Amino acid sequence: MNTSAPRRGGAADPARLLAWEVLRAVDERGAYANLMLPALLNRRRLSPRDRGFATELTYGSLRAQGTLDGVLGTVTSRPVDTVDPPVRDALRLGTYQLLSTRVPARAAVASTVELVRATCGERPVRFANAVLRRVAARVEETAGDVAVLLSAPDVSVDPVGHLSVVSAHPRWIVEVVLEALDGDVAGAQAALAANDERPGVHLVARPGRIGADELVAQAAAAGLQAHRGACSPYAVHLDGGDPGALTAVVAGDAAVQDEGSQLMALALAAVPMVGRSSGLTVDLCAGPGGKAALLAAVLATEQSPGAGLLPGGGPPAGAAESLPGGGAAAGARLLALEPRAARAGLVAASLAGFPAAHVVRADGRVPPVRPGTADRVLVDVPCSGLGALRRRPEARWRRTPADIAVLAPLQRQLLVSALDLVRPGGVVAYVTCSPHREETSEVVSAVVGQRADVVTLDARRSPIFADLPADSLGSGPFVQLWPHLHGTDAMFLALLRRRSD
Ligand SMILES: C[S@@+](CC[C@H](N)C(=O)[O-])C[C@H]1O[C@@H](n2cnc3c(N)ncnc32)[C@H](O)[C@@H]1O
Repeated sequence: MNTSAPRRGGAADPARLLAWEVLRAVDERGAYANLMLPALLNRRRLSPRDRGFATELTYGSLRAQGTLDGVLGTVTSRPVDTVDPPVRDALRLGTYQLLSTRVPARAAVASTVELVRATCGERPVRFANAVLRRVAARVEETAGDVAVLLSAPDVSVDPVGHLSVVSAHPRWIVEVVLEALDGDVAGAQAALAANDERPGVHLVARPGRIGADELVAQAAAAGLQAHRGACSPYAVHLDGGDPGALTAVVAGDAAVQDEGSQLMALALAAVPMVGRSSGLTVDLCAGPGGKAALLAAVLATEQSPGAGLLPGGGPPAGAAESLPGGGAAAGARLLALEPRAARAGLVAASLAGFPAAHVVRADGRVPPVRPGTADRVLVDVPCSGLGALRRRPEARWRRTPADIAVLAPLQRQLLVSALDLVRPGGVVAYVTCSPHREETSEVVSAVVGQRADVVTLDARRSPIFADLPADSLGSGPFVQLWPHLHGTDAMFLALLRRRSD
């Protein structure tokens, strides 16, 4: 990556220049802002204030891109997508400052014009100046009310159109969220607003390796504010700072992992087994290995005398009577599959220190495992990631419905493969980081509808979700988590058992 600041003429403010560079990389090369911004911030010497401002400008402008283009469209005579992209990105940054920050209008316009001059030369300067002055006037007239500025339809007439404007999401994503929330408009508004919140850093204290309280204490000793998570017994939230500074993270005893992801792996591990256990757990889509490592840690812990899945010891309620021997089978092992070499490498790194876990580079649709042999299979399928939009500021404008049309058939094939792998009495956890029904319940229904040998369990009744309000988990039998309700990514879980009768 070339990290020196581009220069054509004049001097741009360093925070704005850095934000513009990230926007260009996202636009031009499909870069991920959440990877590129920290890398650039590490290389440039910016004051803490400028670092904060650059971050707000970058993430805010990317999230609001549709709104910003809409506002620009009200003041330009030509379509915004015909404006030279480097100039357009600068105009987006300027419009964001005018709409959503406390930067005085005059300073927002002047600094953006300087940015255009420094990065694009003299030619577009007059155009940029005229456009931004008009935006500033429109923002003043409407007191910055986006609904008024963009003539949002009334929520009672066109809820999707209204939410699309006020939450700065494309219409199709609003439809997806509204449908997943059974038409609850207020809920959808809260869910979409949560995509604008910066997610906190969640750590998992891997059971058998480090306790959650110990991890909190370690963070405090390193000068980081941390506290226990509300959903997963192994979760610790960091209020800021670098998780890589913790020795537990360096040693692989703890790792960064969303609490919702933790719950998905734990819910699979907590399902009581029926019939004779083989001891084999398979993670069919393992990369980069977060859930695989938690499963491996749980399996290892269950084999230790006196240890169990839940803090406080013992297998989950109701499990003991149906688990042969009252716990995981002796010799329990985990097989993690991942087809992409680089990601398989990440899985291997994540599983280092778990001798009963193995990584194989393979396609989950043709797994190198005898059918009908696994106790448990996790199939955390490749998905649109619409459940993690708060982590990827640009993703809401980059994803399209066409992506779903490609993903859904693969998801169905992977679920079929997972069901074929489990033995009678064994269980599959079908997981997505998306609330889109075409990736969640519709995939499960399509596959289960074709099979008489599969029973859908009520995932909401897993002891893993016992501390969450029952009515927050969806109408069942699946579990749908949400950032605005649980503070997690919007993870979906179906638990499916292969009949043993
Ligand atoms: C949602 S991610 C899994 C996340 C992982 N479970 C974790 O917690 O770290 C989906 C993974 O499936 C992999 N994948 C894509 N196509 C696959 C296939 N045909 N078979 C198995 N895995 C596949 C992707 O490379 C990606 O690493």
